[in-house]
Amino acid sequence: MNMPIIARDLYRFFHAGDEETLALRGVSLAVAPGEIVVVVGPSGSGKSTLLSCLAGLDDPDGGVVHIQGVRISRRPERERTELRRKHIGVVYQQWNLLSHLTVQQNIQVVRSLIHDQTVKSRLVPIPDLLTELQIDHRAGAYPQRLSGGESARAAIAVAVAADPAVLIADEPTGELDQLTENAVLGLFASQAARGVAVIVASHSPNVEAAADRVIRMRDGAVAS
Ligand SMILES: Nc1ncnc2c1ncn2[C@@H]1O[C@H](COP(=O)(O)OP(=O)(O)O)[C@@H](O)[C@H]1O
Ligand SMILES: [Mg+2]
Repeated sequence: MNMPIIARDLYRFFHAGDEETLALRGVSLAVAPGEIVVVVGPSGSGKSTLLSCLAGLDDPDGGVVHIQGVRISRRPERERTELRRKHIGVVYQQWNLLSHLTVQQNIQVVRSLIHDQTVKSRLVPIPDLLTELQIDHRAGAYPQRLSGGESARAAIAVAVAADPAVLIADEPTGELDQLTENAVLGLFASQAARGVAVIVASHSPNVEAAADRVIRMRDGAVAS
């Protein structure tokens, strides 16, 4: 099978003075289209570092990450950004919404960066995307006027606006009550049903329960 995301033997070290932190020590994983993988583990176990390396936001010191068959690791930041724009949707912990733009305008900005006409022509129209993510009633709202659940939905809408093969979310429901969390999980499930490979880091047992597969991290390695 063609795996949208494959990571092999990732290492990441951080240095602060004499202190060396091994944030990742030999992590490998592959996620299939339509699969929801949840990464769990105690705080400091390397979840965010792993997700950043998978998304090309950070570059591993060792190992390799392939997205849609293309290596994203060990490239200049510009190239990683370009590959991320094409293939990956990232739901940021602090929500990836530009505050001076409405929800709809935030999506338009993401789409304006797509230049490939073939890709453009197969995109779901924005009103349909907003409806699918249950945020259509807030299309004209500015981010600071959104509730927590609405912000989460809008952030996911922005993340999937360019029709990515991979969706990556770092603790996306950390601040949400369980009802809202369930709604967000439903959105991930519907993205997976469309064939998107979904990777979520979370502390929540509820999120873990929604996974097709759980990856447990401990001290920068996969424990099980
Ligand atoms: N930019 C950084 N500089 C120095 N140390 C870092 C940096 N990012 C993460 N770390 C360290 O790497 C380890 C893993 O962190 P992180 O990936 O954030 O774990 P988690 O997301 O599981 O809480 C921790 O010990 C953390 O302090
Ligand atoms: Mg983290």
